[in-house]
Amino acid sequence: MSPSTATPAAAPADPTAYFSDRILQIQESATIAMAKKSRELAAQGVDVINLSFGEPDFQTPQYIKDAAKKAIDDGFTFYTPVPGYLDLRQAICDKLLRDNRLTYAPNQIVVSTGAKQALSNIIMTLVNPGDEVIIFSPYWVSYAAQVELAEGVAVPIMGSLENDYKVTAAEFEAAITPRTKAVMYSSPCNPTGAVFSRAELGAIAEVLARHPGIFAIADEIYEYINFTGEHVSLAQFDAVKDQVITINGFSKGYAMTGWRLGYLAAHPAVAAACDKLQSQITSGTCSIAQRAGLAALQGGRSSADEMVQAYHRRRDLVLGLVKDIPGLKTPTPDGAFYIFPDVSDFFGRTAPDGAVINDSSDLALYLLRDAHVAAVSGDSFGAPDCIRFSTAAADEKLTEAFARIKKSLAALQ
Ligand SMILES: Cc1ncc(COP(=O)(O)O)c(C=O)c1O
Repeated sequence: MSPSTATPAAAPADPTAYFSDRILQIQESATIAMAKKSRELAAQGVDVINLSFGEPDFQTPQYIKDAAKKAIDDGFTFYTPVPGYLDLRQAICDKLLRDNRLTYAPNQIVVSTGAKQALSNIIMTLVNPGDEVIIFSPYWVSYAAQVELAEGVAVPIMGSLENDYKVTAAEFEAAITPRTKAVMYSSPCNPTGAVFSRAELGAIAEVLARHPGIFAIADEIYEYINFTGEHVSLAQFDAVKDQVITINGFSKGYAMTGWRLGYLAAHPAVAAACDKLQSQITSGTCSIAQRAGLAALQGGRSSADEMVQAYHRRRDLVLGLVKDIPGLKTPTPDGAFYIFPDVSDFFGRTAPDGAVINDSSDLALYLLRDAHVAAVSGDSFGAPDCIRFSTAAADEKLTEAFARIKKSLAALQ
């Protein structure tokens, strides 16, 4: 039939009725959803303080921007090798040796469109339908969604408040079943800021060594934003190095969220599988971002260290401010740029506008409405009693935000 005589198919009244189960079942990232709500309110002229973002409030350092401009002028405009330029992968190996005492070769590195894609690559590579992935909880919002997209089963296990929400080796071992394929965690942790010590990770490595069929996805994206003075990589424990997939990237340490550049380091066969997957999905990530990333690594970590001093100062500022707010139970974060108080004391109370605060989502919405402060409820991090505030904002904004929060929380009956 020629196009002119064909009867046009009726447009479906509701296209979503035809969508895959996959897309219907996943939720939009809660952090992105909250940022959207807060932008909408700001567009109406409301003075919103947005503490929902998971990103540095610093500009990318100038030397990295300059390298990107030069990359354009030098003609880096073509497709790149799928796992990333060789010199960038070599620079990542040099970084892993310098900072982490880990020896990798470039064929063990896959550079991706953010650490988020590196995580997705490894989950899609390892997880069969029904496979279980143990997720140390509270966890970063996308872990469970990515496991579910791979038709795996997310098995969150919660650390205790007394242990700064860090899951212990014994708790990890107790969650292992014959279906366990992998375990994943971040240290420093988003959302809690908790940092695993060498002893704690050593004990986790001992459990892993007893289970050679279980992989560990160690998300070290906040590596540089660590106030303890020591970052430990799980892959440093030789007995389990080949079971560990180390995830890292440029978004947090180098304030490069928009450039979309991350990577994984793994056993060569695991890296090759992720390379194959990426070749069918996005190909190599942006050429210009990769040249910028190379310059970032060649510049060392001094620009990151300056930002970290600011995060440390703000952490202390905010801990001082929340101490003054009754009802918040806040562990001290040792890294990243969040605080993650338990807010369950407020559940069951009523707001001045008559709304009942049943859970942390209600509380986050109330704070947005009443205090004009955006935060993210803990349920999306697997911790429904908590709420996450970013501390990556100017000191005056943080001071003003927590004064408003204090007032709004005091108004709950
Ligand atoms: C723990 C954790 N892992 C991974 C990512 C993703 O980082 P990227 O911007 O490199 O995709 C984030 C971003 O918020 C994060 O907090």
